[in-house]
Amino acid sequence: MKIFRTIEEQQNYSKNEKCENIKIALVPTMGFLHEGHLSLIDKAKEHADKIIVSIFVNPTQFGEGEDYKDYPRDERKDLEVLREKNVDAVFIPEVSEMYPEGFRTFCEVGELSNKYCGESRPAHFRGVTTVVLKLFNITKPDIAVFGEKDYQQYIIIKKMTEDLNLPIEIIPSPIIREGDGLALSSRNIYLEKEERIEATVIYESLVMARKMIDEGEYEVNLLKGKMNELIKSKKHARIDYIEFVDSRTLEKVEKVENPTRILVGVWIGKARLIDNMEIKP
Ligand code: PAF
Repeated sequence: MKIFRTIEEQQNYSKNEKCENIKIALVPTMGFLHEGHLSLIDKAKEHADKIIVSIFVNPTQFGEGEDYKDYPRDERKDLEVLREKNVDAVFIPEVSEMYPEGFRTFCEVGELSNKYCGESRPAHFRGVTTVVLKLFNITKPDIAVFGEKDYQQYIIIKKMTEDLNLPIEIIPSPIIREGDGLALSSRNIYLEKEERIEATVIYESLVMARKMIDEGEYEVNLLKGKMNELIKSKKHARIDYIEFVDSRTLEKVEKVENPTRILVGVWIGKARLIDNMEIKP
């Protein structure tokens, strides 16, 4: 497994592979890898010959007072896991390599970036799209895989790729959950014992809404009200947002009539967790 810490090394590797007509997949990550990330690698292997994983905790997607400094990191273990997974190359740059003195340029996908997660994290998606565009230019993938857990991020990156005519196919990969339903996330490590138990309420609220819809309840206000009630019944939970949106456009809907995503952001203690579920009425 090759390990590249500079942009030049990574670009040279990717250029050479492309000369050989090799299909490259990029799996961008912020490290502290778990089964969710490994499922992205498996998905990438279905579509490409060579797999590049990037590990970079991107400072520009964290707001002031957010957990950039505390974000969990474990480079040694990550590299071990990726070696076992037979990944071809890992791009693992320093912040100064990605954002040298004088860096000024950002990429933003309009109003899609300002709602839901973007409302409580105003610069977040601008940081995500900027770093992902840089990673695309550095690793030159034919495809890139993004987890559906960050559904808004997946839609925004797809839109950026279309709008900027990037010759890259964006492939979604399903959410991986713990046995009790909690979506895997590096941030789950922040949960204290009691919070971890209560955190399952996020998935439970999604399952409850899906059941109500299956039974014929399509009014979003009512569904949201019930989810609110359930989540608020937990001592450590504080709702950031619950929204029902069109799965393709992320526009809010008032009735569940077409393919709809329920998006949820909830604070459990000091962990801000997100989850979502597709509803096909
Ligand atoms: O989803 C993530 O882990 C990050 O937002 C990403 C896509 C690696 C960009 O930093």
